[in-house]
Amino acid sequence: MPESATLINGSTEAKSLTHAVAENVALLRQQGITPGLAVVLVGDDPASAIYVRSKVRKTEAVGMRSFCHRLPSNTPQAALLDLIATLNDDKDIHGILVQLPLPPHIQRDAVLDAISPEKDVDGFHVVNAGKLAIGRTDGMIPCTPLGCLILLRRVLPVLSGLHAVVIGCSNIVGRPMARLLLNEGCTVVLTHLQTRDVAAEARRADILIVAAGHPRLVRGSWVKPGAVVIDVGINRITTPTGPTIVGDVAFDEVSVHARAVTPVPGGVGPMTIACLLQNTLEAARNITHKVSPI
Ligand code: GUN
Repeated sequence: MPESATLINGSTEAKSLTHAVAENVALLRQQGITPGLAVVLVGDDPASAIYVRSKVRKTEAVGMRSFCHRLPSNTPQAALLDLIATLNDDKDIHGILVQLPLPPHIQRDAVLDAISPEKDVDGFHVVNAGKLAIGRTDGMIPCTPLGCLILLRRVLPVLSGLHAVVIGCSNIVGRPMARLLLNEGCTVVLTHLQTRDVAAEARRADILIVAAGHPRLVRGSWVKPGAVVIDVGINRITTPTGPTIVGDVAFDEVSVHARAVTPVPGGVGPMTIACLLQNTLEAARNITHKVSPI
């Protein structure tokens, strides 16, 4: 009987991180500071609406203030930029998140660049992306890659020197993930749609991060025995038994080869929101400590 991989439980890890955030929020509140997170949703993408609802609920659950702005899909870009300027100036707001994707008439980069880098809890502003790219540790780190790193550290206390392969090069996950792993001392290969033989690259990985947005892309034969596999995918598919959610990894096959693997659901997903709360706490601390006492 083949051995089966250790399950990396993102739900448990997210609960303990969220609990730690809530304790620190309580301490800040004793000093008269209540961290505030503004979430902006433009349009009516159903998946985004679910994520935003969950972000609002969890923000309030840790004792932070939540400010949610739901705008119609035909909102002019200028109106969205005006709202961001108002949120940047609002002393009660320490974190700002604009849910992606945005409607096609809005330029994503113009919107992300308008958010004050200190309040950019997504870590998508070019200043924060740049800091991560040059190995500086004083920027905001995007939530999903940060969650993946925390889960990896649970099973691999030392990352330095390991060979990491990242499948998918989005600005939200793949690129920042590759930079984080590089900063941890890994040798990193970042693969994308033009990569000639992704499976061959994957087979060299001690650490395999999959954020391709393609259901069950990674097969058992792609995984080196003993590798640690982090599955970022959340794909809604229909099977003969009805609709279900699967990752970017063929879990049953991969868990025969891997040393440890994240499940979907219950792996990376819960960590993303926990890290968003952690980033908001961090932003509240940074912004408050910068304010002069007089
Ligand atoms: N859409 C999908 N993932 C994310 C995320 O982490 N942040 C934002 N703002 N939008 C997203």
